[in-house]
Amino acid sequence: MKTKTKKIYICKNCNAKITKWIGKCPHCGEWNSLSEEILIKEKKNNYSLKNLKPQLISEISGEDEKRIDTKNQEFNRVLGGGLVLGSLILIGGEPGIGKSTLALQIALKLKNLKILYISGEESILQIKLRAERLKLENNTCYFLNETSLEVIFQVLKNFSVELIIIDSIQTLQSNKLESSAGSISQIRECASEILYFAKASSIPTLLIGHINKDGNIAGPKVLEHIVDTVLQFEGDTNYMYRILRSIKNRFGSTSELGIFEMQSNGLREVNNPSELLLSQNEENLSGVAIASSIEGARPFLIEIQALVSSAAYGNPQRSSTGFDLRRLNMLLAVLEKKAGFRMSIKDVFLNIAGGINVKDPAIDLAVIVAILSSEEDMEVNKKICFTGEVGLTSEIRPVNRIEQRITEAEKLGFNTIYIPKYKKKNFNIKKFNIEIKEVSKVEEVFEILF
Ligand code: TYD
Ligand code: MG
Repeated sequence: MKTKTKKIYICKNCNAKITKWIGKCPHCGEWNSLSEEILIKEKKNNYSLKNLKPQLISEISGEDEKRIDTKNQEFNRVLGGGLVLGSLILIGGEPGIGKSTLALQIALKLKNLKILYISGEESILQIKLRAERLKLENNTCYFLNETSLEVIFQVLKNFSVELIIIDSIQTLQSNKLESSAGSISQIRECASEILYFAKASSIPTLLIGHINKDGNIAGPKVLEHIVDTVLQFEGDTNYMYRILRSIKNRFGSTSELGIFEMQSNGLREVNNPSELLLSQNEENLSGVAIASSIEGARPFLIEIQALVSSAAYGNPQRSSTGFDLRRLNMLLAVLEKKAGFRMSIKDVFLNIAGGINVKDPAIDLAVIVAILSSEEDMEVNKKICFTGEVGLTSEIRPVNRIEQRITEAEKLGFNTIYIPKYKKKNFNIKKFNIEIKEVSKVEEVFEILF
């Protein structure tokens, strides 16, 4: 007997469905992004719907917003205060970054919660070895080696749990589709079935997903649209630090960062990030400046290192790690045009210590100071730090939450902080013990420091 099959093409970039293959997606314009998928039968959801009746806001009980404390402060922070019941959370990251370690660690530390950890990647024995390495045990956490979506739902029907972890979405396969595990249509199908299950049962679910070479979660936008929360686990192979960043969160802010350190016995939560972002070097060195920065709700101090040298070849080189290269070029242009430094004949290298990628514009001032310090070969005292955004006319612009930045600098033992000049002060400078220098122009900072 022949089963009825249908061939369609799905754009990997925008998820558009097209009936015939063409080189360029007509919806998003991406080249070579269509992949062939074969559909066998119409999809049908075969479990019962709980809430079929449309409801008024006032009728909806607030209970669904109850959150589970994951016993992991950094993870809670990124989630926006714990796991929301019935939410589907995707943890994406490159292979080897520590996704399985993070998931297992959370599962094994959540005593009193019945958990099912489904692994399609590693055997149960491998997981056991990892748990031994983490020195953790949990009598309420169960493991299952399975990749078939239908079998998983069958198991879940008879085995009630309070949290599901699936490692990874790319290994799952639904028998409704003929395409292989990891294909766009399998990922979409499995993720939407799981979402449906999570919502209907109110069981929070963690999905692990791999990131492909371009830094996208394989089956990129497809998954991001389906899940409630997308967390990206990132880090630099040269550093042991791992950063959990929220890219999308239906239940919290996307600006929060969770910071971990990979150790021989698992991931350690880094509750005080300044410890890793300031190098332990006590000497004053030229080309180094410290910025008081805020990511999410948390202030921390980071060390900026710059190296300026005469360009050996015609084209000066600019390179930057952890800081936007275009912004660096902009700051160099400001120094050249407005403050009179001949940066166009110099190679400039910039590095943010700790391998962290900083988006806070308030580190501009420290970047400029580090560059000038290297250029002049004059060191900046290690007890001074900087905060302020630099504008195109070389003015230093006010930044948000200045009090928090000052407090953090004071807490970490700095004795001077340079901040932008505020016209309307809604904070009292006198209440701080740290010396506060208000500056309004880059040239002014240069004159005071060098
Ligand atoms: P893993 O969680 O398997 O990564 P992913 O699931 O994202 O592919 O992490 C693997 C890496 O972490 C591996 O290089 C070994 C290292 N590791 C430690 O350094 N310490 C540990 O305690 C564990 C469990 C792993
Ligand atoms: Mg893994």
